Amino acid sequence: MSIQSVLILGAKGTLGGQLMRLYPQAAGWDREDVNVLDFHALRAKVAELRPAPGAVINCVAFNDVDGAEDRPEAAMALNGRFPSQLAQFAAELDVPLVHYSTNYVFDGVKGEYEEADRPAPLSIYGRSKHRGEQLIAESGGRCYIVRTAVIFGPKGASDLSKKSFVDLMLDLSAKRDTIQAVSDEINSITYAPDLAAATRDLLEAAPPPGIYHAANSGGVSWFDFAREIFRIAGRKATVLPVPSTHFPRQATRPAKAILVNTKLPPLRPWQASLAEFLASS
Ligand SMILES: NC(=O)c1ccc[n+]([C@@H]2O[C@H](COP(=O)([O-])OP(=O)(O)OC[C@H]3O[C@@H](n4cnc5c(N)ncnc54)[C@H](OP(=O)(O)O)[C@@H]3O)[C@@H](O)[C@H]2O)c1
Repeated sequence: MSIQSVLILGAKGTLGGQLMRLYPQAAGWDREDVNVLDFHALRAKVAELRPAPGAVINCVAFNDVDGAEDRPEAAMALNGRFPSQLAQFAAELDVPLVHYSTNYVFDGVKGEYEEADRPAPLSIYGRSKHRGEQLIAESGGRCYIVRTAVIFGPKGASDLSKKSFVDLMLDLSAKRDTIQAVSDEINSITYAPDLAAATRDLLEAAPPPGIYHAANSGGVSWFDFAREIFRIAGRKATVLPVPSTHFPRQATRPAKAILVNTKLPPLRPWQASLAEFLASS
């Protein structure tokens, strides 16, 4: 079923921007349109939408993994309580909700994680995203929790939108000949346009609500990711492998958290998406 009248929250972020390209008729709101933590304001704004939304896609999140260690309340409000309210609201409207979670809900011991594997987050960010998953599931609505990991792609339109690892590496290689990259952390990685397309396909296929994994196939360390970026982009930078302890950070990350997708059509290998992104940028 094709749904055109979609409401996209966080429309100026990395993923939200790609969803807006896929759904040109969507209502897309970001921080300057409404602070989603003011839920009364959000409800009132949704009530004015014509046509009423046929689905809600939530890309808003507290995404500062290290910053969340100092601001656990703020992380929990945006990643836990807000998605719970939104899920209840979507159920009232009788429309599906797509919400995104993260591979950081896992502790990294098992390495490769299917949808039904038990979360054991290591950080406040991971705990807040896991809390969001739990509260959404309790809402009983038509909710899709899509776990994803390390999003890259064109920068979002928001001034605060973070550069992806790919752009950071390209910037660094213009300034330095040698770059250190962490070799003992392995993640799935995800091209934002591929995730946006997978989201649209999910809404159209309308499978049972629940948890889904959507990331490009394969897993990679930051070190190998950086090497592949420079190889494809034809940059001469030398990449040196360093342990994660070389860059002390506030939040603990899983050592290996690859999202295994057993429910959705597979996304293409990350190398193919990276090559497409670098060719287009
Ligand atoms: N990025 C990753 O590597 C990654 C990895 C795993 C999972 N995810 C999940 O994937 C989803 C999309 O991530 P993303 O990287 O596309 O996010 P993003 O680029 O940070 O976009 C989020 C957007 O939401 C806006 N926003 C934040 N707080 C708001 C508020 N209170 N009211 C209204 N808007 C607000 C942000 O505005 P400002 O820019 O002004 O703050 C931003 O435009 C999130 O659920 C995230 O947790 C992301």
